[in-house]
Order: sequence, then structure tokens, then C-alpha cells
Amino acid sequence: MTATYEVRGHIAVITLSNPPVNGLGFATRKAAAAAIGQAESDAQVQAVVITGAGKAFSGGADIKEFGSPLAMAAPNLLDLIGVVEACSKPVVAAIHSVCMGGGLELALGCHYRVVAPGTKVALPEVKLGLLPGAGGTQRLPRALGVEPALNMIVSGEPVNAELLAQVPGQKLFDRVASGDLMEEALALAAEVAQVRPLPRVRDLKARHANPEAYFQFARNMVGGMSKNFPAPLRCLEAVAAAVSKPFDEGIKAEREGFAALMMTPESKALRHAFFAERAASKIADVPESTPTRTIAKVAVIGAGTMGGGISMNFLNAGIPVTILETKQEALDRGVATIKKNYEAQVKKGKLKEDKYQQRMALLSTTLSYAEIGDADLVIEAVFEEIGVKESVFKQLDAVMKPGAILASNTSTLDVNKIASFTQRPQDVVGMHFFSPANVMKLLEVVRGAHTAKDVLATVMALAKKIRKTAVVSGVCDGFIGNRMIEQYSRQAGFLLDEGCSPAQVDRAAEKFGFAMGPFRMGDLAGNDIGWAIRKRRYQEKPNLRYSKSADLLCELGRYGQKTGAGWYDYAPGKRDALPSAVVAEMLDKHRAALGITPRQISDEEIVHRLVYALVNEAAHLLEEGIAQRASDVDMVYLTGYGFPLWRGGPMCYADTVGLFNVVQTMQRFAKNPLDDAEFWQPAPLLARLVAEGKSFS
Ligand code: 3HC
Ligand code: NAI
Repeated sequence: MTATYEVRGHIAVITLSNPPVNGLGFATRKAAAAAIGQAESDAQVQAVVITGAGKAFSGGADIKEFGSPLAMAAPNLLDLIGVVEACSKPVVAAIHSVCMGGGLELALGCHYRVVAPGTKVALPEVKLGLLPGAGGTQRLPRALGVEPALNMIVSGEPVNAELLAQVPGQKLFDRVASGDLMEEALALAAEVAQVRPLPRVRDLKARHANPEAYFQFARNMVGGMSKNFPAPLRCLEAVAAAVSKPFDEGIKAEREGFAALMMTPESKALRHAFFAERAASKIADVPESTPTRTIAKVAVIGAGTMGGGISMNFLNAGIPVTILETKQEALDRGVATIKKNYEAQVKKGKLKEDKYQQRMALLSTTLSYAEIGDADLVIEAVFEEIGVKESVFKQLDAVMKPGAILASNTSTLDVNKIASFTQRPQDVVGMHFFSPANVMKLLEVVRGAHTAKDVLATVMALAKKIRKTAVVSGVCDGFIGNRMIEQYSRQAGFLLDEGCSPAQVDRAAEKFGFAMGPFRMGDLAGNDIGWAIRKRRYQEKPNLRYSKSADLLCELGRYGQKTGAGWYDYAPGKRDALPSAVVAEMLDKHRAALGITPRQISDEEIVHRLVYALVNEAAHLLEEGIAQRASDVDMVYLTGYGFPLWRGGPMCYADTVGLFNVVQTMQRFAKNPLDDAEFWQPAPLLARLVAEGKSFS
């Protein structure tokens, strides 16, 4: 049963019971509505308590049902809430742990609400590109007040129940439980059993002293902040309707907004990302029951750009870190950078001084391997040279306690080779953080040929603890993200050869939604990094075609922001990318040398060449088993490479365009003599999916 019914004295207790979060799917709605019916007809029952089993009151509507007929099958959520609100006996919601979306809407349909302290309360529909569609936009402003309700609905952020209970005049919670929630809910139910009329949130007024000015102000704010997402403004209009319209008309407006948003590509992309994030945490042959190793102490080798940021992740999570370096100056520099980063957060009011002190107290440094031997996890972030890695891993093998996890943050080297430097390859894994490592969400977990399952399970669980999105990658050059970005960069280079300026390519990519176009990105990361990688490639794969423009740029010493000049010019101390006459001239000469007459290239062509280059390489990665699933690739690009969230990631985007259309366009590109026909050969998986009329999802 997805909702159970029992009677305690004169009170019926209905328990939503649909693990893991009591999602209000069809079966649960049906069982809950039937249980209310049973309470109505049971003469012994004078009042009802509704609660949730396990770790949630309810996480809301069952998102998995969206888009299927089950989502609206009777009783839908509005029907269920209607049945609860219309019950002739008082219904008390006993709310705990998580009360979100449709779960909160159901609670708002009850006559009374008792909440356990610490409960996370939210209407998070906006994060799925939706608005609360079962009365939330109408009842929450009535129960909590217009402004706090609008903040919750437009942000979707969870708020602690105690904070909400302190809002002046609020009628959201009748009581915050001080002891056992169920006892207190039963006591309230007994107290109000004979009270009539039954209080209904719909009968309250959603009032604001100056609604027109307030909503106009809010409209400007929300509109500015949510450019590419239609949901926040529709949320706002629905809340405005709660003030300006009678309840039933407001519900109608809400319903229309919900139905319209459900069909938008933005909502589909956000729902895809929600499930993709959760899917990424699962590894096909590593069951969730796999035991994990305890990680109470971490060591980081190298206090450079990455080592410092990596350490901060653990300090933030309350895990002590020891950083090891070869020289005291390097340690001092590394610690000073960590301090500077925290102090900037304190200055901006994002971190409290005492928290900063607590975090710094967890940090220690050393020059001696003997002092890190008892760490549970060590992450190496030293120079990207195999000889340096070899020396570090041999020393780690000698000093680390048995069972310690030995991780490398390498971005290009072979994790299996690194593992072979030790006598314990089963304990070696790649943990590829992205720069800045304390900020970027993505963590590629690189699974070596011998990496033990419990090591993987431990690292995946740890990633959650340090708030990273972990995606598993097999071993290959560049892993998932960088192997794909190389093809994207190659196309960006060909576009320059054919006539684009760096600014034109960046503008098109940024208009599509990338956080940064390829050339601004190159200037930020340092063009010399790609140069070094290409030099290696020229040796390894002499037949692979590259545009030479990026090499010519580096030969001019234009490495990017760090040298004050790259694809763009930079004024001293500034980060604004200014078009460069030097680069324009360099490109003109380069094209002339190749005998190319530059042509006008549309933004659409630019974007398709960049994005389909990603998609085709990803199809190879899937076929090779480097990436587990297409949605993992999307998570890599959404969380590590600034791919626009409202497009759901490159694979979701390709599915939206239709793989048939993607391949047709690729075949057109293949005919361009200045492009690379081989580049545009569809990966076998892509070709197969098209032949079978399928999509990546
Ligand atoms: N529907 C279906 N499945 C859900 C779900 C939901 N509303 N919420 C969570 N789940 C599933 C997840 O997919 C995951 O499944 P899996 O184990 O198969 O991967 C499982 O529950 C556990 O989820 P988490 O890993 O996220 O668990 P946490 O404990 O970290 O977090 C949570 C729990 C806070 C509830 C979080 O899952 C969450 O934020 N869920 C989304 C809540 C939400 O957006 N609700 C609104 C739904 S839309 C709605 O109600 C429309 C209505 O207004 C008409
Ligand atoms: P960095 O040059 O900023 O820092 C490396 C640090 O390692 C220096 O402080 C150096 O003193 C120290 N070091 C060198 N040899 C050592 C040894 N034998 N023992 C102890 N410490 C030693 O380099 P960065 O950028 O931090 O890169 C480190 C690793 O992270 C590399 O493998 C790199 O490929 C990888 N990486 C870098 C990213 C980036 O954007 N910088 C992104 C993801 C991974």
C-alpha cells in the first residue's frame, strides 16, 4: 500500500508510504483519497492526521510521472487536495523532514499543520521549470504572506520550518512540535475534533499594502534574473493572481501556467538535469549496498592552483586536511591563497568569521610524507608530468596506511599507469576536479582497470558530502569532458580559418547560452596549455587536422589574460576582452597563406559545428564504455563546461533537435572542403540510433 490507514482512539492516521520520498504518484494519491473517504465514513473517527513514512512528509508530485497520462489520472493532486480540504472532519498534517512541492500543497489543503523542527519546506517547482500547480501559488501567499511566499516560489529554495513559523501573522504552521511529532499532531487533532467551521487556507485573504508597485518591482527583478527561463515570471504572475483574484480564479490561472510551462523545452531540460544528476551517482556494477571506507582525514599533495581549491572542499565539509609540498615557500603561498579566498567570502558576507576560523583550524601543512601516512584519502595535485607522478605515488605507496585511497587529479595522464607505480592499484582512482576546484561542481571520477568497487562507492558518496556532482569516466586521453572539448576546439579553429573572428565565434556560442565562448575560455585558462597538448598530439596522431591559428597565437607569446594578451587584448589589470588588431592581422595572413578567401558564416552554423562536435565525440565515448550513459555526458557539460542549463546538456539538445537532423547537418558540414570530412563521420552509435529512429535518452 502506498498510503496506510489506522485508527488510534478517535483519530484516523493516514501515512503516505511511497519510498524514497513519498512522491504523490497516482497510486499514492488514490490510496490517500480512499483513506480520507474511509475516515469520513468511519463513525468512530472524529479527526484525521496525515503524515509521511520514512525520510519525508512528501517530496511532492511524482516527477517520473510527468508527461505520462498517470500524472493527471484521477484523482490528480488537485482532486486529492480538494477531498482533504472538503473533509467534514478536521485533517491535521504532521510534517517532518522534507515537505516540498505537492507535499506542501497537500499540507496547505489540510485544516491544521504541525511541523517538526528542522523540516525543509519548499515549493521547488521553479527549479524544474514549472510553477506549483496544485494550489501552492494561491494558498502559500494566503498562509504565509505575499512577500515571503513569492520569495519561496520564485527561488524554489528550501526554508527551515522554524524560520517560517516566526514570520509575523503566518498561518502556515499551527504548531512547531517540541517533542514527538505524532503525539503532538494527535493531541491537536483531539483538541480540534469538534471545532467548526473548519479553517481553510482558501478562505484567507492574500493581502499586500501596495500590490501594484510591489509586483512591478518584483517583475523587474525576477525578469532580469531569469532571462532564459520562463517559469519564474509565470510564478510571479500566479502569485499576483492570488492577490487580485478570488481563490478559484487564481487556481485556474495557476493551472494554465502549469500546463503551459510543462510543455516548454526549458522545463524538459531542467527535469532531464534533475534525473541526470541522480543517475550519475549510480554505477551499473557497483550496487548501492557496497560498503564504503571511512574518510575522516584527507591529505593533498601539492599546494598549487588545484591543491588549494581541492583542500577547501574538504575543510568546508568539516574534514581535516594536511597539504604536503616539497618547499615551505610553496606551502606558505598555497595557504595564503586559501586564506585570501575565505577572506573574500567573509568580506562579501557569505561566510561567518567563526566558520572561517573553524575551517582554517582543520588545515595543517607538512614537508614530510611520514606525517600523512594515516590519512584515509590522499589526492595528488602536483605538476602534470608522469615522472613527478611516479615519484609521488611510489612514496605514497610506501607510507600510506593499508586501505587508504590514493587519488590523482591528473587531467590528461593515464590513471592505470599511475596505479602501476604502486603495489595497490585497487586503491588508486582519478579524482579530476575542475578549476577553480572550490567552486566548480563537477568531479570526474576516473575508474582505473583495477579500481576497487568500494573505492568507487566511497568516492561517489564523498563527492555528495563535499557537494560535487560526480560523474564516472573510464580511462582515456582527456576523460569525458576534455576529450570532447578537444573536438569543439578543433572546430573553433577551423571556423577561424574559414573567416570568423574570435569575437564572432564567442558571440554565437554565448548567444546560444555557453557561459563563455571558446576563445574567451582559452584566454582565461591559458592558451599555452592547449598548445602543449597539441604538440604532443602532433607526434601521436600526425594525420589529425588542426587549425594552426592557435599555435601562431602562442608563438606571439599571447597566452591569454595572464600575459595581458591572447585572442583578445586586455587593459592592464582588467578582464574585459577587447578585439585585437594584431590577432585580426595574424588571421588574415594565415588565411592568405592557406589561399582561403574568408566567407560569412552564420551564427547557426557556428553553434552547430561546435555543439555537434561535442555530440559526435560523446557518442564515441558511450560506445567505448568511457561514459556510462548519455545523461552523464550532459552532467559533465552542465556542471563543468558552462553548457546552458535550459538546454539540458549537449545530448539532451541533440535529442531535442532530433538525431536524424543532427546527422543530416553533419553530412552537410562534411562536404565543406575547408572542414574535415573525417571529423564529421557520424560515430557508429549515432548512426545506429538514427537508423533505428531512436534518441540518446
Ligand atoms: N518525484 C519522483 N522521484 C523523486 C522526487 C519526486 N518529487 N523527489 C525525489 N525523487 C527520487 C529521486 O529521483 C531519487 O531517486 P533514485 O534513488 O531512483 O535516484 C530519490 O528520490 C532520492 O532523491 P535524492 O537523491 O535527491 O535524495 P535526497 O534525500 O538528497 O533529497 C529531496 C530528497 C529533497 C526530496 C530531493 O530529492 C528533491 O529536491 N526532490 C525534488 C522535489 C521537487 O522538486 N518537488 C516538486 C515536484 S513537482 C510538484 O510537486 C508539482 C506540483 O506542484 C503539482
Ligand atoms: P600548479 O603548478 O599550480 O601546482 C602544482 C603544485 O605541485 C606546485 O605548488 C608544486 O610546488 C607542487 N609540486 C610539484 N612537484 C611536487 C612533488 N613532487 N611533491 C609535492 N608537491 C609538488 O598546478 P595545478 O594547475 O594545480 O595542477 C596540478 C594537477 O592538477 C595537474 O595534474 C593538472 O593537470 C591537474 N589539473 C589542473 C587543472 C587546472 O585548471 N589548473 C584542472 C584539473 C586538473
